[in-house]
Amino acid sequence: KSVVQRLWQGRVSAGMLSPRLQKAMKDYLGANKHRVAYSGPRQAQRSAKQLLCQLKRHVRVQTLDGSEPPFSSLGWRSLVPGRSLERLYGSGFGSCAVVTSAGAILHSGLGKEIDSHDAVLRFNAAPSEGYERDVGNKTTIRIINSQILANPKHHFNSSSLYKNVTLVAWDPAPYAVNLHKWYMSPDYNLFSPYVEHRKRFPAQPFYILHPRFIWQLWDVIQGNTLENIQPNPPSSGFIGILVMMALCEEVHVYEYIPSVRQTDLCHYHERYFDAACTLGAYHPLLYEKMLVQRINTGPARDLRTKGKVTLPGFSTVQC
Ligand code: C5P
Repeated sequence: KSVVQRLWQGRVSAGMLSPRLQKAMKDYLGANKHRVAYSGPRQAQRSAKQLLCQLKRHVRVQTLDGSEPPFSSLGWRSLVPGRSLERLYGSGFGSCAVVTSAGAILHSGLGKEIDSHDAVLRFNAAPSEGYERDVGNKTTIRIINSQILANPKHHFNSSSLYKNVTLVAWDPAPYAVNLHKWYMSPDYNLFSPYVEHRKRFPAQPFYILHPRFIWQLWDVIQGNTLENIQPNPPSSGFIGILVMMALCEEVHVYEYIPSVRQTDLCHYHERYFDAACTLGAYHPLLYEKMLVQRINTGPARDLRTKGKVTLPGFSTVQC
């Protein structure tokens, strides 16, 4: 059986990955770049309901609000949007789509279905123009990592990808979440482009996720996995899924867990092939996907044919 078939069944471990990906994982574990020190419990047997309740309880979508140093003394309280991300859309959305950038979404014909949702989340530089049949063209929120803000090749200030949508940026701070240290040396400098963008376009909702939120998610993944997961932040995909579970009554995730179209093509919009994009090297993707597979409420057929997982929003989960 392939790794993906095992993923569909929820039985997968790092030992099933190619030697190259296993080596990459080991190297990240050895490097522990973000100085992760996890001492919490590890429980592999939680039911779907218990998992959902744990997520609902432990995961608070939090964005920088300018109330903590060093941001408080830098005037960020009046720089960030007046309304928090969780309040921005009032009582939230009904049905939402999370569209990953996986190559497997090519030739899916899912565009119409994706656009029929009340809100659509996309990632980083993934375009819809030219790919509407497969990915749709509606974008409500875009989650971007700090490289999008810092690397000139993305033309963050001029590209239409980043206009007329709610932007949510993130960058991996040290596990201990020292905001001073993070501010002095982020992975990629997102702070000055953020400040500049807020000043130029104050009406556009634009948030930076609190690193506490990012590492809370990591803790939940490790806490439900017996193996040592990569000591690096979860992927934008996992972050986005959890943000939408907080904002929507129902979340439909496309090509996160791969369908039968599974391919090493990393992104649908780029000619670059690497199995790590789907199964993980830096990010603990395999384990994130296992967790999401366990809380999937959609039919097995949707997973295989559409690469679609259906998840309940937190507001509908009774714990
Ligand atoms: O590569 P990027 O982070 O921009 O892609 C957005 C998200 O889509 C990833 O964080 C990951 O969760 C998901 N993805 C995937 N398989 C791929 C490419 C992306 O699951 N081949």
